[in-house]
Amino acid sequence: LVPGDLAGYKFLITAGPTREPLDEVRFLSNHSSGRMGYKAAERAIYRGAEVTLVSGPTDLEAPAGCSNYSVEKAEEMHEICSQVFPDMDAAILAAAVSDFKPANFISGKIKKNDRPGLELSLEPNPDILNSLREMKKPGQKIIGFAAEAENILVRGRDKYEKKAPDMLFVNDISAKNTGFKSENNEGYLIGQNFEEKITERSKAMIADILLDRIKELF
Ligand code: PMT
Repeated sequence: LVPGDLAGYKFLITAGPTREPLDEVRFLSNHSSGRMGYKAAERAIYRGAEVTLVSGPTDLEAPAGCSNYSVEKAEEMHEICSQVFPDMDAAILAAAVSDFKPANFISGKIKKNDRPGLELSLEPNPDILNSLREMKKPGQKIIGFAAEAENILVRGRDKYEKKAPDMLFVNDISAKNTGFKSENNEGYLIGQNFEEKITERSKAMIADILLDRIKELF
């Protein structure tokens, strides 16, 4: 890799969790720290790319030099990604987007006394990867992630077939030092006619490998 080797390319990168509000104080979410997506943004900027980062709530600071959108709900992430994607060369979708949201938002705070047993009704969120794939123009690339806890290669292949990104990185979220929150990651990069095992290393190094492979796709 050479600094500046991605000059002229525009990347949309999603990161972090989404939050799906249940009432004014509670939400459904997940353990994504945003690290994987932020490292991808940092490395892409270092290598000369123009980066638009769309992030759910995290404790991280957006890397200097990117256009940064902060969102909460999957619907908001979906809206911004759909707006900016037409101008991009690639989308790297590292966010852990909630597949479901509460069907009814309750104003105020749900009181324990009012509802001795609470049943939640959920409805599906839009799938950002699928939407971007449907609007994709020739030459644009989409890189998905998959967070899996067992049989990760088999499940990764299955997700690659179903969601049909150009490449998919499947990572093991049951492992201790990789996946959600950790500094490191490992997994398999799956593409058309290839599978590459990427052994444990920093999320920055994983991001560089992904960027190398995306550059080969361009
Ligand atoms: O943020 P960190 O703590 O660093 O952790 C990194 C990570 C584990 C969150 C990251 O490496 C990762 O695996 N991100 C994707 C997690 C995930 O939720 O995968 P999924 O299998 O649900 O989704 C598959 C792909 O579709 C992903 O690219 C996801 O961004 C996308 N998706 C999912 C649901 C949805 N409604 N819209 C989407 O675009």
